[in-house]
Amino acid sequence: MTKRKTYALVGTGGRAQFFYLAVARDFKETSEMVAFCDVNQTRMNYANKLLEEHGAKPVPTYKAEDFDRMIEEVKPDTVIVTSVDRTHHKYIIRAMELGCDVITEKPMTVDEEKCQAILDAVKATGRNLRVAFNYRYSPHNTKIRELIMDGVIGDVHSVHFEWLLNTKHGADYFRRWHRDKRNSGGLLVHKSTHHFDLVNFWLGAKPKTVFAFGDLMFYGRENAEKRGETKFYSRAFGSENAKGDHFALHLDQNEKLKAMYLDAEHEDGYYRDQSVFGDGISIEDTMAVTVRYDTNAMLTYSLYAYAPWEGFRVAFNGTKGRIEMDVVESSYVNSGGDQALEGAVKGKKILVHPIFEAPYEVHVEEKKGGHGGGDPVLLNDLFGTPEPDRFNRAASHVDGAMSILTGIAGNRSIRTGLPVNVSELVRF
Ligand SMILES: NC(=O)c1ccc[n+]([C@@H]2O[C@H](COP(=O)([O-])OP(=O)(O)OC[C@H]3O[C@@H](n4cnc5c(N)ncnc54)[C@H](O)[C@@H]3O)[C@@H](O)[C@H]2O)c1
Repeated sequence: MTKRKTYALVGTGGRAQFFYLAVARDFKETSEMVAFCDVNQTRMNYANKLLEEHGAKPVPTYKAEDFDRMIEEVKPDTVIVTSVDRTHHKYIIRAMELGCDVITEKPMTVDEEKCQAILDAVKATGRNLRVAFNYRYSPHNTKIRELIMDGVIGDVHSVHFEWLLNTKHGADYFRRWHRDKRNSGGLLVHKSTHHFDLVNFWLGAKPKTVFAFGDLMFYGRENAEKRGETKFYSRAFGSENAKGDHFALHLDQNEKLKAMYLDAEHEDGYYRDQSVFGDGISIEDTMAVTVRYDTNAMLTYSLYAYAPWEGFRVAFNGTKGRIEMDVVESSYVNSGGDQALEGAVKGKKILVHPIFEAPYEVHVEEKKGGHGGGDPVLLNDLFGTPEPDRFNRAASHVDGAMSILTGIAGNRSIRTGLPVNVSELVRF
């Protein structure tokens, strides 16, 4: 038997399960988990419990300050980074310095300095860094790449892209660490990294110039007060006022949320159920961005996080016609349910309008699994036996950087009121 590839994972929260359970369950012939690392022992113990429930052996656990010792002792081939965004660069860089390859969750990091440090470390160490962009693999998103690559609408000159996060999933970013911009880079980085990556992927283009507006206009105490709200609370657990709040997350009513967060909070003060109408939110909930690409194409993009439904609408205008795609997704609270439901597609439609002909619908078969069936394909690409891919969906550190740089430039533009040249942010 050939030696299995070994993986250590840092950040054993909700998303981590996507990776370590896939390794333990679906890719055990080729891959093996060998260690967990986190600031929180209770969450690492929970991760080990899940490993055992899936027939794998528990792995040694290391507190964050013992990351180097972990690498020394278990010598993993690859480190998987699924910690809080603000910490990604630290683990990516150190893992590469200690001789490991890295798979990181999106966003690769949250600002230009950390992005530069990662790019420099890749160069200095020669290690491989992949960013786990799952949306590229959703069949409908891959289909758009195919239509554009095959010239169905000619050269694409403009894209109009609207993403809606609803009051369930969208609200979740305002309950926990994401609400502090220093942790997540705000939604233009944390969430839009997926969307800007898709545009880069669809068009085969890189962003050049970015202008953005963004504001907190719905969540937060001030906005709630303006709407006449009078009942406030800091966190849902133990609060009378939270009982009637549609936006409250009740950790004690969900076994998994309770085990992972409520029972773990005594260790690190991570409160997963804060009020979305509390003080101290420094991220935006309403954003508008325009981008010019190196192909000269233009993007108009909008994101808001208190929508009645979840999904997106995108239109591509080219020299031979127009493509429109509408996708409605299931909304999902991270760790609060079946992970396969994350980004699962409830409805979708792709229409091609050739300039002088009747429009026609393009049918795409959706597969089982999260992100419209994209997640299992991504996992096979990471841990299984990847097949040759005409669409080059495996995302490198350069793709990871390009996708966050639009949002990072957008954040700078929001601060300064000026357009930002992406080339001024980092050197490749
Ligand atoms: N691609 C996707 O669809 C997708 C979906 C959800 C989350 N994510 C990404 O996964 C990552 C984790 O998100 P989550 O929802 O699981 O959050 P989470 O809060 O459930 O988990 C984060 C984990 O990081 C740990 N942590 C915090 N500080 C740390 C430190 N200094 N060192 C080590 N560990 C630390 C926490 O204790 C926690 O266990 C984020 O980067 C997020 O962007 C990606």
